[in-house]
Amino acid sequence: MTAPAVEQLRRVVELACRAPSVHNSQPWRWRAHDGGSLELWADRSRQLTIADPQGRDLALSCGAAIHHAVTCGPALGLWGRVELAPDPSRTDLLARLGFEVGVVAADAADRLLTLERRSTDRRRFTRWPVPRPRLLELAAAAVPWGASAVPVTASGERARAEVLVLRAQEEQARDPALVEEQRGWLDHGRADGIVGRVAAPTRSPRPELPHRSRSDTTDLVPRLLDGTDGLLVLCTASDDQLHWLRAGAALSAVWFGATRSGLSLVPLSQVVEVATTRRDLRREVLSGAAHPQLLLRVGWQEIGRATMPRTPRRPLHEVLDWL
Ligand SMILES: Cc1cc2nc3c(=O)[nH]c(=O)nc-3n(C[C@H](O)[C@H](O)[C@H](O)COP(=O)(O)O)c2cc1C
Repeated sequence: MTAPAVEQLRRVVELACRAPSVHNSQPWRWRAHDGGSLELWADRSRQLTIADPQGRDLALSCGAAIHHAVTCGPALGLWGRVELAPDPSRTDLLARLGFEVGVVAADAADRLLTLERRSTDRRRFTRWPVPRPRLLELAAAAVPWGASAVPVTASGERARAEVLVLRAQEEQARDPALVEEQRGWLDHGRADGIVGRVAAPTRSPRPELPHRSRSDTTDLVPRLLDGTDGLLVLCTASDDQLHWLRAGAALSAVWFGATRSGLSLVPLSQVVEVATTRRDLRREVLSGAAHPQLLLRVGWQEIGRATMPRTPRRPLHEVLDWL
């Protein structure tokens, strides 16, 4: 067994940090050990204290980074094992990842290309509906991570989900502190936050809300969801930090699958952030059977559309320490 070189571990962390995160807050801190292992810590200074007081979105974001690390490590010949929430007495230590040097994965180029291509493209999708079997194929990627992604295709449940999304938006728009928090992440810095250049004028229920889901200045939609958007509810059997991490890794796995098959995916977290709509989503759309963690909007972008600019990431020296 050979331990990875410093440069290889640095590269894995760099790839992991391309993961999606709420408001592009990148709420993670990595610690590398000489033997080839990494620790992933929550960076609570980057938690959305108003929208996300429990740290659900933070853990989902970190879970996505874990999936990125272990999926793209093999593209460099680094094969990883993950231990989630390894120390109950230190809850901010979210995961330990151990890597061993092996052969470079046969599909290395595909893994890296998928990571490069994945992005949050909030422009309106085409009206081609995503067939249920296609949604089920995407959903399968969540299972190995101990989460599930439930397609919402029945018209009654679908209508309920749409109403709940709107209700959550309205509720958040009525909270000035939350609006201020969201605004703070718009053009937050050169290396994080949502870039204002690609953020569109607002058309949320309250026009003053800097809307998370408007990014195409020429193609605005009046609502977060269109009737033909494919919908998945990402959910877990329990509702604690360990399961939020699982759901985050599952989010990334489903997103990789969508990207590979040419589908666009946009997470919608408001409906889960607001306690009452989270409760109703669980009861009315999931029949109380599981805990919703994110709603995923899935669809096809128009052929030939320009690609969106890549969102920035913090430099490695800010997020990685060597022990
Ligand atoms: C937990 C989580 C919640 C998110 N919630 C939303 C959301 O409600 N609306 C939205 O448009 N994007 C949402 N996103 C996408 C992020 O804004 C996006 O990942 C981030 O800006 C980085 O951009 P990228 O995905 O293109 O790399 C969410 C992402 C994560 C991981």
